[in-house]
Amino acid sequence: MPRFQLTDDRANMRWNGMDQGTGPTLLLVHGFPLDHTMWVGQIEELAETHRVIAPDLRGFGASTVTAGTVTMEQMADDLACLLDALEMRDPVTFCGLSMGGYIAWQFFQRHRAKVARLILCDTRAEADTDQAAAIRRETAERVVAEGPGFVADAMIDKLFAPSTHSEHPERIQATRDTILNTVPDGIAAAARGMAQRSDATKMLPEIDVPTLVVCGRHDAISTVDEMRQIADAIPAARFVEISAAGHMAPLENPDEVNRAIRSFLDADKARS
Ligand code: MLT
Repeated sequence: MPRFQLTDDRANMRWNGMDQGTGPTLLLVHGFPLDHTMWVGQIEELAETHRVIAPDLRGFGASTVTAGTVTMEQMADDLACLLDALEMRDPVTFCGLSMGGYIAWQFFQRHRAKVARLILCDTRAEADTDQAAAIRRETAERVVAEGPGFVADAMIDKLFAPSTHSEHPERIQATRDTILNTVPDGIAAAARGMAQRSDATKMLPEIDVPTLVVCGRHDAISTVDEMRQIADAIPAARFVEISAAGHMAPLENPDEVNRAIRSFLDADKARS
């Protein structure tokens, strides 16, 4: 798959990721604490009809790591700079999973002109409770002191549906390896950023672009009920539940997720 690596002076970072295909742009934004490889089931196939850009966010994969706190606003601004650096003139379909969805809310608010459509996979609109935010800040301290092993142990069971554990252990191992290979400062900075993210619930009725909301049936982090409520609150949203999948639906059941994305993009193309 074609890889891109570029230095972006405005974002003050070096980007790594995939840029494949031609056509309308689909920007794939990964979750925490992962990298662009979580979209392995989407990039090749969706690049048949789209230019698919799947970057590693600040702090992850082979992109620049920034210590301290990296907010969801900063990640959104980074992505706006990336689209400019890639000379992307037309608005894009922004597809984010979980933390990628938290970034989507900010991207929509701050860079509205760059958004043609939204795809929200396994994410939440609410901010953290005080307790959840405190746990994230503790995680940030601990990962810098101890490394990412305990993060992988704590997260891996929650990320996947039972069927993925039995039928696709290699996908789980790949995700564990990604977490273990992530720089602790990058994990800590994003954890602190998520802890202070704002509540996006109130902005949902203002989303005026076609939106697809996708959720794995067994998602234990952002549940089907919660995601259905997100879709209900967005005027032009459709909701699709993905079978045999948990929080990592695009990785766990790529066929069903890709079908949902294709049908959403095709229906919207037919309307426009
Ligand atoms: C993710 O998948 O990005 C995380 O579950 C987000 C979070 O920790 O809230």
